[in-house]
Amino acid sequence: MRIYHLSAECYPVAKVGGLADVVGALPKYQVRAGLDAAVVLPFYNRKFVQENLFDLVFQSATLLGTRRLYFEVWKERNNVLGFELFLIKIPGLIDREEVYCYPDENEQFIAYQLSFLDWISYTGQSPDIIHCHDHHSGLVPFLLKYSSLYKRLAKTPTVFTIHNGQYHGAFGWDKVSYLPEIDLTKAGLLDWSGGINPLASAVRCCAKYTTVSPSYLLELEVSSNGLEQLFKMEKARGIGIVNGIDTEVWDPATDTMLKGNYNTATAATGKEANKQAICDRFNLEPDRPLISFIGRLVYEKGADVLAQAIADSLKTLSGQVNFVLLGAGEAETEHALQELKEQFPDDCNVFIGYNEELAHLVYAGSDFLLMPSRVEPCGLNQLYALRYGTMPMVRSTGGLKDTVIDFGDKGGYGIRYDQTSVADIEYAISRALVLYKNNKQLQQLRKRMMELDFSWDVSAKQYIDLYKSLITTTTL
Ligand code: ADP
Ligand code: GLC
Repeated sequence: MRIYHLSAECYPVAKVGGLADVVGALPKYQVRAGLDAAVVLPFYNRKFVQENLFDLVFQSATLLGTRRLYFEVWKERNNVLGFELFLIKIPGLIDREEVYCYPDENEQFIAYQLSFLDWISYTGQSPDIIHCHDHHSGLVPFLLKYSSLYKRLAKTPTVFTIHNGQYHGAFGWDKVSYLPEIDLTKAGLLDWSGGINPLASAVRCCAKYTTVSPSYLLELEVSSNGLEQLFKMEKARGIGIVNGIDTEVWDPATDTMLKGNYNTATAATGKEANKQAICDRFNLEPDRPLISFIGRLVYEKGADVLAQAIADSLKTLSGQVNFVLLGAGEAETEHALQELKEQFPDDCNVFIGYNEELAHLVYAGSDFLLMPSRVEPCGLNQLYALRYGTMPMVRSTGGLKDTVIDFGDKGGYGIRYDQTSVADIEYAISRALVLYKNNKQLQQLRKRMMELDFSWDVSAKQYIDLYKSLITTTTL
């Protein structure tokens, strides 16, 4: 079964967040399960691309309105990721360093999708499934069905996975000329609220859409940045499949980014070495509980309430607990965290920026990981934390609700709270500190956390079952 995954991110080629982790792992597990899965990314001028060997496998030109764009398809030669990786390069448009936020982003992603479709049609390929991730490839389901240019591929089943329903990639109808010839009677399927909305269009035109957790599927009906009505109407075609984690990249027993490796049996001492390394780096006392945060400093993640909640906690708990916060994002939040660090230099430290190696160390060396997310379609941080024996402290939402059970409940192993509020976070911190004092219970819970299985094996199978259900003439 030939599958093409279309995505803007893929670890370790280009990562901004969890989308990269998913697209860098799911295809690998699908290949192991016997599928012929490949990833097609826009070209980024980044370390992975510079350090690996790529062959030019196709070149042609596509039309973006009146602009004739020369494009190239490059293939990574040695399958180092465990699946075939293709990059689409368009000199002057898709050949840059950053993944997002260019002023001509719409043009970039439209051209990426058109080049992909041109490539597979000109080369006579007939994939069994095209699996699109987020709005960056959201126009593909519509174009396959309703552009005469891709008629031969019109029956190809498409799966659309929503990793983040807040971003739609919408643009004005003035850019409709960027699209190739389409069936104008179907143009309404591109529209939402008077604009072209790739996310909404994908939901309506794909064979099946998925969200990265079952709870998030329901939450989109209540909060999806204006698409609530759409999700109510289309819900019968949606399915929630919780993400897995790449247990080869994220394994405390072998992780080369740690200062000490450990497994379930050696976690008590193993984690100490990593905690010591963090405390050395950040001038903190290692004999206190360490509560951390890793993530994008944005409203969705509840990062804006962290500084206040930690400051309030430290008013009474200074000297009894350490905090380490790693992230980058909104300037105001970055500033508030820097101020927090200045106010409590002996209890708290902050790293503003993106640092993969430090993130691994923090998952390993911390006792608790705070995730006060307002919106969390799945969340991978809590799954990494669990695997590294670090207790997640999560707001009950989306994937956090689906993957973390409060330790006060039967079979539980985490701390949950209802609101992204200073009061709820403070209360969660106080519960963490009480638990930390009961070393026997903490060690038992750590063992339970580390024994949980969030590997891709289970979720990859759910996707495969979904693909099978969509393929009428099976090619298995
Ligand atoms: P999202 O995709 O919404 O950002 P996820 O929980 O799915 O959230 O995934 C976040 C991923 O990005 C994880 O792999 C996490 O470790 C990583 N990450 C986030 N911020 C940073 C950072 N500042 N430095 C290193 N890794 C980070
Ligand atoms: C998005 C979501 C996050 C999810 C990730 C991977 O970035 O915000 O919750 O884990 O995609 O699916």
